[in-house]
Amino acid sequence: MTPALAPSLRALFAYPGYLARDVAEFLRTAVRYYRNRAFRRADLRCLLAYLIRSPDAMCQRYLRPFPRDRVQKIYGETFFSTLDAIAKAVQLTENDVVYDLGCGRGRGVFWLNAMYRCKAIGVEILPEFVIQARIIKKRIGADGVEFIYANVMDLDYRDATVIYLYGTAFTDNAIAELAGRFSTLAPGTRVVTVSYPLTQYAGAAMFALEQTMTGRYLWGNTEIYVHRKL
Ligand SMILES: C[S@@+](CC[C@H](N)C(=O)[O-])C[C@H]1O[C@@H](n2cnc3c(N)ncnc32)[C@H](O)[C@@H]1O
Repeated sequence: MTPALAPSLRALFAYPGYLARDVAEFLRTAVRYYRNRAFRRADLRCLLAYLIRSPDAMCQRYLRPFPRDRVQKIYGETFFSTLDAIAKAVQLTENDVVYDLGCGRGRGVFWLNAMYRCKAIGVEILPEFVIQARIIKKRIGADGVEFIYANVMDLDYRDATVIYLYGTAFTDNAIAELAGRFSTLAPGTRVVTVSYPLTQYAGAAMFALEQTMTGRYLWGNTEIYVHRKL
């Protein structure tokens, strides 16, 4: 076998495993959360919109020109059961304004708004994800969600009460820069990070680490850190 064929064959054999995982996750989501009409409508439209387009491939293609030390070129979504555990940990209410930095297709943003009635804002650098999410928002009339097409580094999050940073979405350099930007956050704002504590980047004077928990992610169980802005 030529060396060039080996990775393609490996991918072919791995595919049934990925498919089984995705189907199992879809069924878990449907059983647990599709009773919520607003979420069901948003999520089914979202899944349908990407039926023949892989968000993973779209992400890798779009992010290819970005410098490797600034942007991670991988895609993945937080399982809703993990998002639920995070929402409970921060005691999310309808008065909260939650930002998902690097929101991807926006499934988590729709979920947060539908399940907890909070205002949910997704920030995403890939324009197609934002366009599609806005179409779904309009179709289902989800007034409590917003999708901003921007680099997360360029925004101000003064109005946030909770910020979610998916574990591997950002490089070390990007997290350090972002942590500096968080100096303008209102005291009391919760920032949730996955696999690393923010205090490692922002210094202990800016954030207090309130809670550490474990959540299920694509790559396995991972530490989740809940910080409070001082
Ligand atoms: C791993 S996905 C996370 C999806 C979602 N947050 C979730 O938890 O389900 C990361 C997303 O962050 C986006 N992204 C990466 N760097 C970004 C940046 N600097 N500004 C805005 N979005 C970014 C990518 O395009 C990708 O869609």
